[in-house]
Amino acid sequence: MPSRTTVGVVGGGPAGLLLARLLHQAGIDCVVLESRDRGYVEQRQRAGILEQGTVDALRACGAAERLDAEGLVHDGIELRWNRRGHRIDFPSLTGGRRVRVYAQTELVKDLIALRLADGAPLLFDARVTAVTGADTDRPVVHYTHQGAERSLHCDFVAGCDGFHGVVRTAIPAEELRTFERVYPYSWFGVLADVPPSCDELIYAHSPRGFALHSMRSPAVSRLYLQVPNGTDPAAWTDGQIWDELEARFAVDGGWRLARGPITQRAVLPLRSAVTEPMRWGRVLLAGDAAHIVPPTGAKGLNLAASDAVVLARALAQWAATGTTAALDAYSDARLQAVWRAEHFSWFMTTTLHSAPGQSPFDTRLQLSQLDRIAASPHAAAELAENYAGLPLV
Ligand code: FAD
Ligand code: DHB
Repeated sequence: MPSRTTVGVVGGGPAGLLLARLLHQAGIDCVVLESRDRGYVEQRQRAGILEQGTVDALRACGAAERLDAEGLVHDGIELRWNRRGHRIDFPSLTGGRRVRVYAQTELVKDLIALRLADGAPLLFDARVTAVTGADTDRPVVHYTHQGAERSLHCDFVAGCDGFHGVVRTAIPAEELRTFERVYPYSWFGVLADVPPSCDELIYAHSPRGFALHSMRSPAVSRLYLQVPNGTDPAAWTDGQIWDELEARFAVDGGWRLARGPITQRAVLPLRSAVTEPMRWGRVLLAGDAAHIVPPTGAKGLNLAASDAVVLARALAQWAATGTTAALDAYSDARLQAVWRAEHFSWFMTTTLHSAPGQSPFDTRLQLSQLDRIAASPHAAAELAENYAGLPLV
């Protein structure tokens, strides 16, 4: 392993792997350090929706071959409330934008395979313990690998190490501001070996709480239930999960929810958080290391990918010309997009979930908002534009 590189990339999730791919293509050397093993990173069940801009970025760097072959193109979503469904059509409301259903696990597998095929450095089981010299021109990443302590000297360090990452802690606390919101409910996500009961995703508001029907392939469904914080996923039987899903998706007409064996289950707390700024000296933050959103708007993975694209461009400008103009603009430009996604994710979350003890007044407001989306193409377009993805800034 080299002890010196241009960009030390901490974290081998979507942000770190895409950044590494883009840097490699721009001729900038980097080393990716990932604390987990390859199998864990490739199996970690997370997001499933790619915006048009994310797909475009993956195509442009030659990482979309399998995505183009296997990803499912979706032209809309269904919102359900009061036992009725309403479809939001993305292309007609957004000037032609659409999304892809392609699991984060598959995207991560593709990017890992490409990096290894390039013979470019990517270290698993490499846990970064600290970054020193953040205020100098030569920051150092300290990590442990195979029982040994090692150092990587860098021109820049990219903190792509997720919400609990360590790179952020290299920035003096007084230079950072964190904005946070914790929600009084979690998501219970399950994977089931059953063909999806719908062609497009269903986001359901119900008196029993929120439910989402998504998918991974024509043979595998991905479903989520709003549950109280602290719910033990093992405490539910498969039958209880399917009964609850069926009750929340209930709709007038002949629609049926198909059941099948549940193969994975996990509970995920919902949180919004933003750390500002996203750059300090030669330390750069991208993806969940800088911001997280509740999953209802399907923005987390897409924000991580957009950060990587903008950051790679800025580093390429620095490498080619020595100017830091784009790096200087990185944090402000991304925070504008991040706060837009934060607002949309908060909006989707608070419109569709029932908070514990929620008043009938607040429920009426939610239903009124959903009725408005159904009645007005302008209101529907606002949702569609945000969901399908706004142009990259
Ligand atoms: P991550 O994917 O978290 O990658 C960070 C990487 O850094 C990890 O591989 C981690 O192992 C590594 N790392 C951490 N610390 C260190 C260290 N000290 N040294 C070296 N490596 C380190 N978004 C949606 O849109 N829809 C969803 O349904 C959805 N579900 C989610 C479920 C869960 C449980 C979580 C946590 C997130 C979910 N998200 C979802 C959000 C989405 O998956 C993230 O926004 C996305 O993974 C962000 O990518 P990232 O690369 O920034 O961070
Ligand atoms: C999925 C997750 C989301 O949070 C979402 O809004 C849509 C789809 C998914 O895992 O498929």
